[in-house]
Amino acid sequence: MTFLTVSELNKEYPNVHVLDKICFEIQRGEFVSVFGPNGCGKTTLLNILSGMDNSYTGSVKFTDNSIRKAFIFQNSNDSILPWKNVLDNLRLDNQNIDESRIKDVLDELKLSNFKNRFPYQLSGGMKQLLAIARSFVFECDIIFLDEPFSSLDYNMAQTVREKFLGLWQKDKPTIFFVSHDIKETILLSDKIILLSKRPAKIKKIIEIELPRPRDSTILTSKKFLEYEKMILYEVENENKIED
Ligand SMILES: Nc1ncnc2c1ncn2[C@@H]1O[C@H](COP(=O)(O)OP(=O)(O)O)[C@@H](O)[C@H]1O
Ligand SMILES: [Mg+2]
Repeated sequence: MTFLTVSELNKEYPNVHVLDKICFEIQRGEFVSVFGPNGCGKTTLLNILSGMDNSYTGSVKFTDNSIRKAFIFQNSNDSILPWKNVLDNLRLDNQNIDESRIKDVLDELKLSNFKNRFPYQLSGGMKQLLAIARSFVFECDIIFLDEPFSSLDYNMAQTVREKFLGLWQKDKPTIFFVSHDIKETILLSDKIILLSKRPAKIKKIIEIELPRPRDSTILTSKKFLEYEKMILYEVENENKIED
């Protein structure tokens, strides 16, 4: 079922043309990533789709009018409350919170032993997991993530990605994920929207038909490497044209 339709989306700042006639659809429950070079307009696109930026031309239409959105940024300090412990960061003063839901999410992320800790007592990876936990506790329809693992070291990023995937697999909220890491986008996504340099146009939309559930063992599979090669080819091809 179609969840979101974007057509002829155009975005300009004074003197900077950022998005150029972007068109795509997202299905409910689909894991969609946007991949493109730094500065091409990925965050701009996320801000428009999520409703944080209303100055654009073209159309962005959600099939359903009342949808619950969650955001996860590169740095979870932007959303986590430092004076609340893990549990209270998940409850967020909501009196009707489903405590069993919190427990399930914490168990799935293996965070239960840390529920009474405060954010300053958590590693960067755990703080990202806490931000992820919150979006699942509140059962959002769509989660927007903007390069959420890019400040973590390789191993931590991989661990957090796998836990996130495990949790996503259970309820399958729709995901809009911004990345500039090729392996990450292939591992996670159902669909990758490849953007060109600015002004960003859609270069290609790639359906990733790798079996789920997925974990890092898939990174060396033949099919995975073929997708990686295809994307690298697209990226390098663009650089050649620009040279
Ligand atoms: N508020 C703004 N005013 C003017 N230009 C902006 C503003 N925000 C972003 N830009 C420009 O828009 C382009 C795309 O930015 P962004 O969406 O953040 O790229 P990405 O997330 O792909 O790295 C960049 O050239 C950036 O400098
Ligand atoms: Mg960005």
